[in-house]
Amino acid sequence: MNHQFTYQATLAASEKINWSVEDIIGGERRLNFTKPFLSESQARVEPLSFLSPSEKLTLNQIRGHGYLYTFGLVEEFILPFVLDHARPQLRGDDYRVRALLRFAGEEAKHIHLFKRFREEFEAGFGSVCTVIGPPEEISRAVLSHHPLAVALTIAHIEWMTQRHYTDSVVDDQNLDPQFKSLLKHHWMEEAQHAKLDTLMVEALGEACSDVDIDRAIGEYLQIGGLLDGGLQQQVQFDLESFMRATGRDFNDSEREMFIRVQQQAVRWTFLGSGMTHPNFLATLEGLRQGTRAKVEQIAAAFS
Ligand SMILES: [Fe+2]
Ligand SMILES: [Fe+2]
Repeated sequence: MNHQFTYQATLAASEKINWSVEDIIGGERRLNFTKPFLSESQARVEPLSFLSPSEKLTLNQIRGHGYLYTFGLVEEFILPFVLDHARPQLRGDDYRVRALLRFAGEEAKHIHLFKRFREEFEAGFGSVCTVIGPPEEISRAVLSHHPLAVALTIAHIEWMTQRHYTDSVVDDQNLDPQFKSLLKHHWMEEAQHAKLDTLMVEALGEACSDVDIDRAIGEYLQIGGLLDGGLQQQVQFDLESFMRATGRDFNDSEREMFIRVQQQAVRWTFLGSGMTHPNFLATLEGLRQGTRAKVEQIAAAFS
């Protein structure tokens, strides 16, 4: 163990935060469609030099919509998993029960938050953005894996949200303030979730043999492959949504470049930035020596 995370401290931190969906979106709190929603390190619209500034902004916003949808989607499997993890020990450590139930409650709130932002997006963007799914099917496929593999996937996702905010959002003064507020409020609560994930992984790992751990790490990589397949499909949909929104058509080389750059952008946003988070790598190495190097090697393709 190379951390000092506890159920009691994460519970106390969570209880100090306490925002509601209505504090962040609705009424006067509207999206500003003259501003980008995602940082350039995630959207990667600038390499597409054949797009005009307003087309780059439109693509950035389509990717912002995809970000809202993808997080809503992954949180649909995080919520039942955390509840299932809490339930067998409801009479155990009181801090553990309260911290995990609070985690689940916050995740239900985040699902609601991302849906409300999508409603605002749909009301203001002007055309339809196609998305992958349905979330229930992806959730079922992920949850069919070894619990340790699912817990690792969740830890990956939640450390990733920490990195998104601190590496590329907090200092970006150009982003839409409302979208930035969503990312900030999500980051504030995900900080506790990532610590609880670490404790979940450790608890599940303690009950596993080395063979089980190897299997779970293999299945974590399979879940990554499943999500990658979904993300690649989402890029195709983003291309269609972009053409619908702008009326723009591409020649073959422009289309090829759009797909190539955007595939790498979503891979970094949702896979590489989680797989290479130092705390996630430390958790992997704590489970089984040598795992860190294995995952780092695979992550190189998602930079
Ligand atoms: Fe969340
Ligand atoms: Fe979370």
